[in-house]
Amino acid sequence: MKHAELETEHSDFMAALDQDWECGAICPGNGGHEEDVCESLSFLQIDTGWDSPKDLPVGCEMWVSRNVLRKQRHWERTVTAKKNKRKQERERRKAKHGEDKGSSEQHSKRVLKAITRERLLEAKECGPWLCIDLSMTGHMTRKEVSRLAAQIRRLYGSNKKAEKPFWICLTGFVPGSLVYDECFRMNDGFSNYLMDTTQESYLDLFPLETIVFLTPDSENVLEDVDSSKVYILGGLVDESIQKKLTLRKAQEHSLQTARLPIREYMVKNVNEKNYHSEILAINQVFDALSTYYETKSWPEALKAGVSLGKGYILPDADK
Ligand SMILES: C[S@@+](CC[C@H](N)C(=O)[O-])C[C@H]1O[C@@H](n2cnc3c(N)ncnc32)[C@H](O)[C@@H]1O
Repeated sequence: MKHAELETEHSDFMAALDQDWECGAICPGNGGHEEDVCESLSFLQIDTGWDSPKDLPVGCEMWVSRNVLRKQRHWERTVTAKKNKRKQERERRKAKHGEDKGSSEQHSKRVLKAITRERLLEAKECGPWLCIDLSMTGHMTRKEVSRLAAQIRRLYGSNKKAEKPFWICLTGFVPGSLVYDECFRMNDGFSNYLMDTTQESYLDLFPLETIVFLTPDSENVLEDVDSSKVYILGGLVDESIQKKLTLRKAQEHSLQTARLPIREYMVKNVNEKNYHSEILAINQVFDALSTYYETKSWPEALKAGVSLGKGYILPDADK
């Protein structure tokens, strides 16, 4: 309750008390009610200078009329009721604010989903396309295939967040194969991923001159990301000691190949094991590609894709 309101209530009560004094409702009489008087007056914070009923002026025994006590109780009830009302009001406002916030969050989630969808479908129309060739999974252990499925999930997640996404296509994705089952088993909502999946080979889907096979063993350096091209990643994990597997495959079909410009923009970092590798996981290659496509900066792109564990850093990176 506001201070002003309390004061009004208080002065109303005081007026009533004054009136009662005037009309003799509180008047000298027989004792027994002195304590009530002191209590009432102290409740109203009236300093009488009397510490106890014994201090009452001699011969001025007082008693408080029922009317005064009734008014006092009425005042107390009013104060409590107003306090409760304000509390309820505060709680109602708080609940409403929560509801509004929840619905606006839901609204912005829906908007975000629509924007993501729009961007992905635009990439489907205008490129660039990125295929993951899943026809080589026979070279991998079950554990490696599970890791590959997890990398596909991360890659798809990054692409969904990108302002300029790629259109993703899983090729050689055969129902009943281990990688097929692992993708569905490991990745929640996989059937709703906004991308293409097909059993077919990328070789039968796109004109060969539009294909660029990304492979760490290529002699060519990737200089730019061209939206009219289809980039292919080998669906392999780094445990596979399948050296130059994708390079040989690309050469068989006279495809254009390219590697990320790691050694062109980065330097070897001194580490205990003296380990340096330019072979990245598919989601890391994708992070580099996607960042480059958005920023047109290879240092930015490589920073996003090449983890410290690969033993490469940007020359100006803080060690
Ligand atoms: C873990 S690597 C597999 C390496 C394997 N030895 C091979 O023959 O491709 C998975 C895929 O990521 C891509 N990749 C990895 N590092 C790359 C790099 N430095 N440049 C271009 N592509 C790369 C390739 O498409 C590769 O097939």
